[in-house]
Amino acid sequence: MRRPDDWHLHLRDGAALHAVLPFSAARFARAMVMPNLTPPLTTTEAALAYRRRILAALPSGVKFEPLMTLYLTDTTPAAEVERAQASGCVLGCKLYPAGATTHADAGVSDVRRIDAVLSRMAELGMVLQVHGEVTDPAVDVFDREASFIDAVLAPLAERHRQLRIVFEHITTRAAVDFVLSGRSGIAATVTAQHLLMNRNALFAGGLRPHHYCLPPLKAEVHRAALLSAVAGGNPRLFLGTDSAPHARHAKEAPRGCAGIFSAHAGIELYAEAFESAGALERLEAFASCHGADFYGLPRNSATLTLVKEPWEVPERYPFGADELVPLRAGERIAWRLARPSAAQ
Ligand code: NCD
Ligand code: ZN
Repeated sequence: MRRPDDWHLHLRDGAALHAVLPFSAARFARAMVMPNLTPPLTTTEAALAYRRRILAALPSGVKFEPLMTLYLTDTTPAAEVERAQASGCVLGCKLYPAGATTHADAGVSDVRRIDAVLSRMAELGMVLQVHGEVTDPAVDVFDREASFIDAVLAPLAERHRQLRIVFEHITTRAAVDFVLSGRSGIAATVTAQHLLMNRNALFAGGLRPHHYCLPPLKAEVHRAALLSAVAGGNPRLFLGTDSAPHARHAKEAPRGCAGIFSAHAGIELYAEAFESAGALERLEAFASCHGADFYGLPRNSATLTLVKEPWEVPERYPFGADELVPLRAGERIAWRLARPSAAQ
């Protein structure tokens, strides 16, 4: 297949970055790298410095292009968005509702506060990437995405009709409907875990912290709606792993944090999902074309080969001084990456 891109990826920094980057770089030509570091990447300067650290962390001889996005806050100035656009390396701005997920405390408290910035982004053609969950603790955790569409995203998309929007890691039938029937300029990323698992996986045989991410896994009707939408080949839907590594002790804790590490099988897991829907022939467009087309970038010309040959995922990977539990730890994945050949 044409070499894929990952349109939603957490690479962290320092030793963690060094530990996880090779997995993504072995599979994807490019990735949209999320800005929720501590402190968050709220300036172009910080995003470009992080980009340099990522490039410096690449194994020698490996080609991989990090694409950057700015972390929006209540006080992001329009001038910062202009600098980001002018840099040529920052393709979007990420909207985290304040407190919605890991390292989102500095996010936006009310989207109306950033209307001026959103207008400028629309003029510049800068993409808004949205973590779509309301943060109201009174709203059921599993309803927070659907609620966000009505309360925030639909009105925002109407106020800014020229703004290009990626609804990140969608998990519900409501989100699929919103994206597929919405105005032009709206797209969404979909993770492998939301295509392969429903919320029963959070409790299968006991509480399963390594299946906890945000937005959380949803009921089977939603998983089925997502899978059938991607299997249908709609160009508004594309691959974003949301691979989000956390040290094992931070996951296996009284308040285990959100995030599933999937970069070790970042394309293989999608192959399983598409195969289960009888739509393997649609995998390439979803993984390698739709995202590039939406962002106005050339499709990759290199290729990648997947082989249908099961392998067992290690129980753990090293993660700096810590360790990391990957998705499917100790279990099998049906597809594996072909060893790189001279032809690739
Ligand atoms: C992400 C993380 O750990 O940075 N966690 C997650 O559960 N997806 C943040 C995010 O994308 O919401
Ligand atoms: Zn994410």
